[in-house]
Amino acid sequence: MDKIEIFENERATGYDKFVETWIPKYHYFLDILPKLLSGIEQKKLLVVGCGTGNEIQRFIQITEPCEVTGVDPSPEMMNQAKERFKDCNNVTLIEGLLSELDIKKKYNVAILSLVLHFFDDNGDKLNLLKDIAERLVSGSTFVIFDITGNKQQMKQNLNVLKCLLPVDLDVEQVNNRLNRIENELFAVSEERLSELLQEAGFQEPFRFFQSSIYMGWLTKKK
Ligand SMILES: C[S@@+](CC[C@H](N)C(=O)[O-])C[C@H]1O[C@@H](n2cnc3c(N)ncnc32)[C@H](O)[C@@H]1O
Repeated sequence: MDKIEIFENERATGYDKFVETWIPKYHYFLDILPKLLSGIEQKKLLVVGCGTGNEIQRFIQITEPCEVTGVDPSPEMMNQAKERFKDCNNVTLIEGLLSELDIKKKYNVAILSLVLHFFDDNGDKLNLLKDIAERLVSGSTFVIFDITGNKQQMKQNLNVLKCLLPVDLDVEQVNNRLNRIENELFAVSEERLSELLQEAGFQEPFRFFQSSIYMGWLTKKK
């Protein structure tokens, strides 16, 4: 049974503002993706848990050939993405689970941004990573952006995050959110992420980006 974290109502309509507020430098991270992946010819890009399409947006205007497929199970997030890319003929959006995508269709790049922390490390994280690996050709590039760190790193970097947040946020709201990140979401340590990726069929990843608790990772499918 696939784990699903459905985004609906205010969580969906307010999503883009939410990431803008709570993830310092997320825009910068997204903006560098096309450059980072520019060496890959004939890109067939799979965006897993694409939500409103923040990653996809960065690839619709690039000059190199690029076909983008976004998959997400939340109808309200998908509807925003569908509206955003209605005129883009190189973007395919699929409302549903990754595990439902035709296994015969292969991609050479995948992005998984802000999804893994909803998955417990009880097999759910590994299954998601395996589902991605199965849909990639050997040598494909895989980019992950997520909450990363062991308990001590998380404590320290949550303090950093607190300093970077907009000053006009409600203090109680900030504390509740930081508490949820620390105690309810499933951050992964750097070591464990590496283990999970290698077990799923990827090479050892390397970190190329960090903003407080959020880290960007690059790896390749073996
Ligand atoms: C925090 S949003 C990230 C959206 C987008 N990737 C971004 O960076 O802005 C998490 C997304 O993961 C989606 N999601 C939840 N369960 C999922 C699953 N099993 N497979 C793929 N996506 C899932 C949610 O519907 C939601 O749109």
